[in-house]
Formats: sequence, structure tokens, C-alpha cells
Amino acid sequence: MWPLLLIFYSYLHSELFSAVGISLPRPIIRGKISIEETISNRRTYRSFARTQIALSDISQLLWSGQGITGRRGNLKLRSSPSAGALYPLNLYLIVRKGSVKNVEGGTYLYQPITHSLKLIAKNILNKSHGIPSSVLQPWMNKSGIKIMITGQYSRSTKKYGKKGRDYTLMEVGHVSQNILLQAQGLLLKAGMAGAFDRPYLQKYWSISKKHLPLMLIAIGKKRYKGM
Ligand SMILES: Cc1cc2nc3c(=O)[nH]c(=O)nc-3n(C[C@H](O)[C@H](O)[C@H](O)COP(=O)(O)O)c2cc1C
Repeated sequence: MWPLLLIFYSYLHSELFSAVGISLPRPIIRGKISIEETISNRRTYRSFARTQIALSDISQLLWSGQGITGRRGNLKLRSSPSAGALYPLNLYLIVRKGSVKNVEGGTYLYQPITHSLKLIAKNILNKSHGIPSSVLQPWMNKSGIKIMITGQYSRSTKKYGKKGRDYTLMEVGHVSQNILLQAQGLLLKAGMAGAFDRPYLQKYWSISKKHLPLMLIAIGKKRYKGM
């Protein structure tokens, strides 16, 4: 009996398990640092240590961007505001191999309703050294994880016409700031880039063609030299 249980337990924690999805730890909603202190200390960092990031931190970061925080009737409301509560944004997590315990390198899609990660593509991050600097600013390559915010304009334009595109872009600002402040609240460091080769990275990281990459946030532990 025990050997069987042991095999089952190691299966649950193996990379095979992550191929079908990763359930994230429940987010914590009471932090140790005040919102004022977090705002005051937030800075863009472009230099990261090669230390592992905890799955609980990833849970917190994704939840701060698009996590479910309330309800209006049948509608589930999220941590960032959205015009008409249409939620045209998606969050992709890009994990460098070995940077998160028990999570293999690859691209994952955050699923707010189940607060889980869906594996999209495996083990791509070893190749990231090969990304030309014209595609991705070199400092971004060094972070253990990245969050790509993507937009699907049609979700908003179907109600708001051309303005839906503007609203989608405005929402990227809300989501980005939430993630940056949450990173600071976890004493992680983060930097964002709007300038990257969208079609290249969309293909390279296997991001859905329906989801347009709009903002990339690199997150990691502090490296003691440099910003
Ligand atoms: C929309 C937007 C796009 C940005 N794009 C880049 C970028 O491509 N590369 C970069 O190094 N920083 C980028 N940044 C970060 C800014 O350079 C940074 O916020 C600014 O220098 C102020 O510094 P602080 O964030 O530390 O306060 C961007 C910021 C915003 C809001």
C-alpha cells in the first residue's frame, strides 16, 4: 500500500502533473507592508538574481493582475477594473527552466476562474539566450519569470466600437501597476517593457494568435548591483 501511495504522491509533484495544469496556492489578502510604503518604494528594476521564485509569489502576482475578487450576480469580478467588466486581457507566465520549484520551464496561461496555470508550451526558456536584442531587451532575459499581458480588442470593441481598443490599452496600465505593486509588496523586483517585437515573441512563446502581446513584465529577486 505505502509504495503505491508514494508513487501516486511523486506523480502529483512530477513534471507530468504540470502538463495538465497547475493549481495555484490561495492568494493572501492581508500583507505586511502598507499600500503607501509599497507605492513609495516601487521602482523599475532591470537586474535580477538567479534565485528561485516561490509558487506562492506567482499565485499572488497573477491574482493581483486578474484574480477573481468579487461577484455581481453571475459575473465574476477581477482585481483590476475593466470597461463594462468585459475583461479583454490575458496573462501569460513565462518561466525560465529551474527558476520556480516544481514548475517546468515554459509558457503558461493564467486561468482566473480556477486560479490555475494551463501549460501552453514546454521548456522554451533555455532558448531565450538566443533571442536577438532587437526582439527583447537583454536585461529582460535575465529574470526568472515574466508576465506577458495580452489583449483581445474584439472583446471590448463589440460593445464600445473603436473606443474599445483604447479601453483595452488603458486596462493594461491598471493590470501592470497592480502587478508591479504586488511584486514590491512581496519584496520582489520588477521591470516592464512596452518595446519588444510582438509577432516574434508571440510565436516564440506560443502565445495564441488571438491574444496580442502588449506589455511584458520581468520579475525576480533583487541582485545587489545595479538597477
Ligand atoms: C508604457 C510603458 C512602457 C515602458 N517601456 C519600457 C521599455 O521598453 N524598457 C524599459 O527599460 N523600461 C520601460 N518602461 C519603464 C520606464 O522606463 C520607467 O517606468 C521610468 O523610467 C520611470 O522609472 P520608475 O518606473 O523606476 O519610476 C516603460 C514604462 C511604461 C509605463
